[in-house]
Amino acid sequence: MRFKDKVCLVTGGGSGIGKATCLQFAREGGRVAVVDLNPVHGEQTVAEIKKAGGDAIFCKTDVGNPDQIRQAIDGTLKQWNRIDVLVNDAAMMTFKPVVELSEDEWDKVQAVNMRSVFLLCKLAIPHMPAGGAIVNVSSVHAHETTANVSPYVASKGAMEAFARALAIECEDKKIRVNCVAPGAVNTPMLWNNPNVKSGKEKIVGAVGEPEDIAAAICFLAAPEARFINGTTLVVDGARLDIL
Ligand SMILES: NC(=O)c1ccc[n+]([C@@H]2O[C@H](COP(=O)([O-])OP(=O)(O)OC[C@H]3O[C@@H](n4cnc5c(N)ncnc54)[C@H](O)[C@@H]3O)[C@@H](O)[C@H]2O)c1
Repeated sequence: MRFKDKVCLVTGGGSGIGKATCLQFAREGGRVAVVDLNPVHGEQTVAEIKKAGGDAIFCKTDVGNPDQIRQAIDGTLKQWNRIDVLVNDAAMMTFKPVVELSEDEWDKVQAVNMRSVFLLCKLAIPHMPAGGAIVNVSSVHAHETTANVSPYVASKGAMEAFARALAIECEDKKIRVNCVAPGAVNTPMLWNNPNVKSGKEKIVGAVGEPEDIAAAICFLAAPEARFINGTTLVVDGARLDIL
């Protein structure tokens, strides 16, 4: 029961890694704010948590929209009056070379994948007690990548650098900031990726389950990780090590 009565806000909580993370927090006693664009999937996560005897709310949110982010934070605070754990998981990709990308397409990916991280941290931190933790979901793409996904790659690289900087700012508050960088994980985002479908991005080595990444996120969010701060944990079944 590492998260007993802890308030855990998870973006992208309606599917894949975010959903598995919500369910694990709830299994370990956490009260979960499921933040997602998709109301059917988000409500489904809440229903599964409640069915198992847990406590959760759904906040329908496009994390690319600052007003909706404020509403998600306000809704969580109204319910429980604090935030102990923030997981920034929601993200999107585009599949075009740089020369064909519009400014709007670039801006949208940065807004959803990175500006949301800045805003959620900015708005949550004043309500996080000592012992709080932030975990951002990055990607092995921040370290090694393929063509035609540059906005996504740039957003994930920025997320990891941002976490290092924010960890220093939050040291006095005793709030830790880390990232998990998953490899290939069995979720809709992986199998809907056109580069994966076409074979341009080869899925070499093991494919993880969402629960494998949730375990790492929960570890970094838990008190046992108290000396792990400002870093990125690669969780990829050794994918980055394969030549
Ligand atoms: N699946 C993989 O192989 C893989 C690998 C590396 C990193 N990741 C990262 O893991 C994270 C989760 O991905 P997943 O594979 O679980 O995907 P997924 O598609 O299963 O889930 C993503 C969730 O995010 C939500 N979402 C998307 N855009 C949103 C927005 N603008 N506002 C609010 N919610 C939004 C979706 O509705 C969905 O519920 C992402 O940050 C992704 O970059 C995934």
